[in-house]
Amino acid sequence: MIELTINGKVVQVEPGTTVLQAAQKLGVKIPTLCYDERLSSPGACRLCIVEIEGMRGLPASCVTQATQGMIVYTHSEKVMEARKTILELLLANHPLDCLTCEKSGDCKLQDYCYEYGVAQTSFEGEKHVFELDDTNPYIIRDNNKCILCGKCVRACSEIKGASVLDFSQRGFNTKVTPAFDTPLADSDCVYCHNCVAVCPVGALMPKELLGKGRRWEMKKEPVTCTFCEAGCNFFLCKSKRDNRVLGVLAESAGPGRPLCLKGRLGLNFAYNPDCVEKPLLKVDGEFIPVEWAEALGLGPIVEKLKNL
Ligand code: FES
Repeated sequence: MIELTINGKVVQVEPGTTVLQAAQKLGVKIPTLCYDERLSSPGACRLCIVEIEGMRGLPASCVTQATQGMIVYTHSEKVMEARKTILELLLANHPLDCLTCEKSGDCKLQDYCYEYGVAQTSFEGEKHVFELDDTNPYIIRDNNKCILCGKCVRACSEIKGASVLDFSQRGFNTKVTPAFDTPLADSDCVYCHNCVAVCPVGALMPKELLGKGRRWEMKKEPVTCTFCEAGCNFFLCKSKRDNRVLGVLAESAGPGRPLCLKGRLGLNFAYNPDCVEKPLLKVDGEFIPVEWAEALGLGPIVEKLKNL
């Protein structure tokens, strides 16, 4: 085991553990935008920077391995100032439309700006004006809100194995797109929503939840999917007002398993007026609704259940 000190507290971790993971073990919260424990870490956003004695600069804790005797400060004055500057730089090219943004209340950039007291940016400059990708029935892609953390790119290749999304262009013009900058509808995207689930801002939004309320007006209810025998677990997103099912919120369907499109979007049956609610018994060529007790008491069903 390796022993290091974080904010004056000693912690022991396995070799290969990052400083971020060691801090998490101690319950110390370091802000992250591009890190996800299920994905590889590119150290892209730099928000997880920390101060380490004897080390130059402020290394990103998600890609810095813990070493024996390391002394780390996660919230020193220098670190806090640098994080504020990073947030300001992100805001410099981010639409400040939190009042109407669908992601408001569930946006990591918004949360961190609140936490670090960053209300506006002091950096002036050119802003992106990308076209909204609204060409498919499931996902809205707004590259103007993208912070280039690359989580969607990695989720697409590392969780789904599809590699539909990637970075294109360079420098200020960099953006995440399918190949040849086509809209999602013209790409090989199967709308699995793994990219949507990991997006920390409002760059990728599920269409089925648009306009249905703020996240704090919704509650999450755990369910087990019944569409197939895999029995994936996910959360039904329900309105706190009338308990109505609004959509599905799920980062995964279970350990190492992404939720499929059927589980994620197959909710129409819940409020289908033609939904059959009682067993139907065929009498003289016509289907008549009967009680379950009556239907289950019928000879052939009893025999079939007994032979299961
Ligand atoms: Fe570490 Fe983004 S979370 S660099």
